Amino acid sequence: MFPATFVSRSKMVDDIDGDCYTKIEKAYNAGMPFFTKAAIREAVRAIDSIVLDGRSDETVPITGIDGATVSFRLRMGEIISGSSTFILKQPLLCYHPIEMMMGLIEPCGACSPSAHDHECACLPMAVCHEADKIDRSTKEIIHYFPISPKLKIQVEFLAYHDKWRASEGFDGLKSIFEGQDGAVKVPHGVNKVVAFGLGSLAWWGQRENSASQHALVLSVRDFLQARGLGKVACYAQDPDYQAVDKEILNLSGITVLDDPRAFLEVDETSVVVSIHPGLPVRQVVADIARPAVMIWHRDTYKQLGPQKADPTSPRVEQMLEKHYVEVEWDFDHKLFGDTAVYVRKI
Ligand SMILES: C[S@@+](CC[C@H](N)C(=O)[O-])C[C@H]1O[C@@H](n2cnc3c(N)ncnc32)[C@H](O)[C@@H]1O
Repeated sequence: MFPATFVSRSKMVDDIDGDCYTKIEKAYNAGMPFFTKAAIREAVRAIDSIVLDGRSDETVPITGIDGATVSFRLRMGEIISGSSTFILKQPLLCYHPIEMMMGLIEPCGACSPSAHDHECACLPMAVCHEADKIDRSTKEIIHYFPISPKLKIQVEFLAYHDKWRASEGFDGLKSIFEGQDGAVKVPHGVNKVVAFGLGSLAWWGQRENSASQHALVLSVRDFLQARGLGKVACYAQDPDYQAVDKEILNLSGITVLDDPRAFLEVDETSVVVSIHPGLPVRQVVADIARPAVMIWHRDTYKQLGPQKADPTSPRVEQMLEKHYVEVEWDFDHKLFGDTAVYVRKI
């Protein structure tokens, strides 16, 4: 990822180390949401106006905890040359977990070091670009991994889907959604499944995980649909999706949304599925909604472990403790990590 260009800041920068950390801590402890749908919607509106309507004079605004709005200029199509050459693709948001904003973990690669040290220090989000590596002279894309033919990926996806449906994990999840578990009841009126960071089906390195996790999403949709309460929509967001992923997922009934649009779909009627995502999904969700169900990993505040990109936080812990029942679930940890199902209490 590469940062979009910093254009302006609506207020002077305070003494970052002292003042900004104090402001962040105070705001956090007072319960101020750091991520809001309004802020995400405003970023989407500005991005659409630039990308779709060609408004090249427009910038993308992000407001910080200190109330200052920072504006970013997009850089699509820009070529960055160094030891390798990259072309900047569509914009996306980079989400800063509380640990990053408080300087406890490294700033994100795309923003570092400026986001943390200077104008963007109080921002919970910044604007970045995905990039493709290209051949310096031909400008052709050099994929990080070979993309298999569509049919091969499709056949494998179906095979992993069958394997998942024959597994204990599938049976366990089904009984939770059918209410046979006894301990919990999935609320009525759930009509959406929203998935984050399940990875590309096209990359051999994670194909089995990614295929099994998308198969799980489709099963959750089927479990909900079987309740006869109408059509259940399925959305997935991952900037790693290749054109072939989008085609295959679309055919199977999953609509791919570009970052950050899937967050706008997360609400009280959703099931969120997020397994080892490369962004702090749990902290964003804790601020924007109380989904009916979340299927995500369960490391706690003290066990950041490998989940550095999606650390939990006091706020996530409080949300889970107060509003959710954690349901044990027997499944293949190699495919789904240390995942639990969280069902809203009411
Ligand atoms: C460690 S991989 C995990 C992939 C898969 N879930 C697995 O368990 O193998 C992290 C994934 O998060 C994705 N990711 C990064 N930024 C994201 C964003 N803004 N929205 C959704 N997914 C994102 C990455 O592209 C990548 O596929």
